[in-house]
Amino acid sequence: MSKKMILPDVICEVVKSGNRYNALDTDGNKYTSEITWGCRKNAHKGGYLIGRFPSKNGKTGSSWRRCTDKVLAAVNESIPVTGDVIDENVLVDVPTDHSEMLNFIHSSYSLKPRGLVMNELKWKYLVRSAVRGKNIMMTGPSGCGKTMAAKSLVNALDRPDFYFNLGATQDPRSTLIGNVHFNEGTGTFLSEALFVKAISTPNAVILLDELSRAHPDAWNILMTVLDYGQRYLRLDEKENQATIKVAPGVTFVATANIGNEYTSTRVMDKALMDRFTIVEMDVLSEDEEKDLLSYMFPHVNSDTISNVSKIAALTRAESRNNSARIPGGISTRTTVELCGLLYDGFSLAESAEVSIYPQYDNTGGGDSERTFVKQIVQKFCDDGTSDDLFNEEETEVATEA
Ligand SMILES: Nc1ncnc2c1ncn2[C@@H]1O[C@H](COP(=O)(O)OP(=O)(O)OP(=O)(O)O)[C@@H](O)[C@H]1O
Ligand SMILES: [Mg+2]
Repeated sequence: MSKKMILPDVICEVVKSGNRYNALDTDGNKYTSEITWGCRKNAHKGGYLIGRFPSKNGKTGSSWRRCTDKVLAAVNESIPVTGDVIDENVLVDVPTDHSEMLNFIHSSYSLKPRGLVMNELKWKYLVRSAVRGKNIMMTGPSGCGKTMAAKSLVNALDRPDFYFNLGATQDPRSTLIGNVHFNEGTGTFLSEALFVKAISTPNAVILLDELSRAHPDAWNILMTVLDYGQRYLRLDEKENQATIKVAPGVTFVATANIGNEYTSTRVMDKALMDRFTIVEMDVLSEDEEKDLLSYMFPHVNSDTISNVSKIAALTRAESRNNSARIPGGISTRTTVELCGLLYDGFSLAESAEVSIYPQYDNTGGGDSERTFVKQIVQKFCDDGTSDDLFNEEETEVATEA
């Protein structure tokens, strides 16, 4: 065998977008913030690929430089994973100057997209938690903007980002670790999951969407990864050896529906919850809802938008009552969908029929959840299509918060 060659753990192509040189790997992950401008510019101009090379002889740090043809050829051969391939102390670009950090956090509200409604304190807390490398858990009922806020945070930070929807994952091991293969000549191979790469990327922001719906195996795998004292991923529990370190500056942002109306969501383990800083997304008030919908749908009649906001607010207030007749209020996701229908020429009654009513149980006839919601909606339908099932007085009583 020839002398051991140091190989890069990441290879990027530099592409120019606007006046920015972005470094992207083949999966589209961005490494721009790790690499100096000059290095990126030269790679783009010179038309070559650059790689992140760990330092020799266990020294700290890593450096980005040109990948020669020899290096690329070596990388293209399949290399068995040994597990301890990640250098713990790779160079990171986390701002260390406290005043710079303060300034960034406290001016960060301008980075919040206009279309996301989130109060200033919560947004700044979210940004602060991210730049301090905390594990963040966004909580709140369905359709209140958790995923939207998490994605907006990632966009605002300009750091490499990775997205995992754990609610849709049937096989947590292959999503978070990878698949093990056997080969007679070379032994065990692991084709690593994207998650392994994500946690090995310094400064990455990793979204763990719908963590509350994840399989309990996923929670177990994530325990050590999220623990500030451990910060590693165990590749193989049985052999009790191979681990991947979480790179410095990595931030996890999870989302969870936590609330008693979400009985289908598994109750999350207390130990797992303890590993997170909680950022609770607020359900919008009637005025906030109206502002958002008017901003998103400037061509929809403003009175109708007010009515939609009122309907949503009434259902939310009812669902918070001790003796609530409906399990949850109409979400902002639903009001946005409903206004999309209004914009496309459907009446309020028609829009409600297809977007709101199917969410409520129809059993029990006149006492059903659906009848109750219908009765609220119909109070605001003046297009002649509503057949008033209830008189004013009954409706008033039913909608009292
Ligand atoms: N606070 C908000 N600000 C702006 N838009 C919102 C907000 N909340 C919800 N929306 C609208 O509702 C849609 C769904 O929101 P999002 O996917 O973020 O909900 P979620 O809380 O992640 O829900 P789930 O728990 O079901 O995953 C968004 O695309 C957006 O149009
Ligand atoms: Mg979501």
